[in-house]
Amino acid sequence: MDLDIRDMDLFSLNARLEQIETELALGLTRAVTLDEVKKLDASLLGKDGPLNALMKVIKEVSPANRGAVGQAINAAKQRIRASLDERSASLQTAAADAETSAALLYDPTLPGRFRPMGCVHPVTSVQWEIERIFTRLGFTIEAGPEMETEEYNFEALNIPADHPARDMQDTFWLKNGMCLRTHTSPVQVRAMRKFGPPLRTLVPGRCFRYETLDASHENTFHQVEGLMIDRDISIANLIAMAKLLLSEVMHREVELRIRPGFFPFVEPGIEIDMNCQICGGKKCPTCKHSGWVEILPCGMVHPNVLRAGNIDPDQWTGFAFGLGLTRLAMMKYGIRDIRVLNAGDLRPLVGVRRLSGAVIQEGAGTSGPPRLGISRPE
Ligand code: FA5
Repeated sequence: MDLDIRDMDLFSLNARLEQIETELALGLTRAVTLDEVKKLDASLLGKDGPLNALMKVIKEVSPANRGAVGQAINAAKQRIRASLDERSASLQTAAADAETSAALLYDPTLPGRFRPMGCVHPVTSVQWEIERIFTRLGFTIEAGPEMETEEYNFEALNIPADHPARDMQDTFWLKNGMCLRTHTSPVQVRAMRKFGPPLRTLVPGRCFRYETLDASHENTFHQVEGLMIDRDISIANLIAMAKLLLSEVMHREVELRIRPGFFPFVEPGIEIDMNCQICGGKKCPTCKHSGWVEILPCGMVHPNVLRAGNIDPDQWTGFAFGLGLTRLAMMKYGIRDIRVLNAGDLRPLVGVRRLSGAVIQEGAGTSGPPRLGISRPE
């Protein structure tokens, strides 16, 4: 708004100056960069600004008022200049501070960011090693369902419904009449029916038992089933195979104990135990204070099981074993408590990774899962 101060009294002039200072205050609330402050400065104090317009006509004001008008305009000009300068200075300081703190954020002496490296679970690592050993010996690798029928889990394995041996494996029964397999042995009869004799197969897999948990018992654990059927297979073949397996996996001499064991699906049945690698046989919670850990129950396949698999027991014989894979991994890597393996806490497993080194780097040299001669049905 252009006002002609020649016609104004001092009261109107002050109102006009107040109006200009209100414009300044509004402009300052919006100006957040130095450029915006400069623009505001030019619009208020510049050549074409309202204060300059007022100054130009001072000479035309009556001599009696001229001094007071000039003083009022000059005072307003100084206030406006001071406010604009103050805002410019604070924006400059803020910009300098931001630059300094960005520089402080980068500290070249700090160590680099740690990226935890993934590694294969100890059980998987040992499973791959075993698969490698057995594929070399002409075994195929099979898989079976974790939800199993009563027939395969028990009956076909010579364990009828009323047999006391059913109590040896506390079972999770499902509403549909099936169960979570308590061992990998059901795949024995599945493989016999599928492939017929002669047969060499290895079945790693997860098993489930309704167990009370302790240092060596989990409700979810891994086994590896081994099955070899041919003409004239004897218990000597079984023991040789078991020793080869354990010495190759452990990469060191281990003490084995062989004793009779009862499983309805083998005859005779054997238990192969390993001296506890946690306490060196001195007795600890992991070995239930016995100095020995049950690792490899096995035996000669019972004729009834061969028959259930449509194989003539007069023509063929075979051995089977059910390796406790989880416990073997514990022995190999010195894991005292089985619960560590399923707990999802990576700290103890990182320790294991250091111990196992290259073995668990997939795809490198002798590591990683064996790829030859593998069939994974279902
Ligand atoms: C069996 O499961 C038989 N099917 C093994 C077998 C196969 C015998 C073929 C003869 C011929 P057993 O219940 O003992 O057997 O289990 C075998 C191994 O699995 C044990 O030696 C142990 O190492 C492991 N194991 C059994 N229960 C658990 C558990 N709750 N937690 C961890 N490991 C277990």
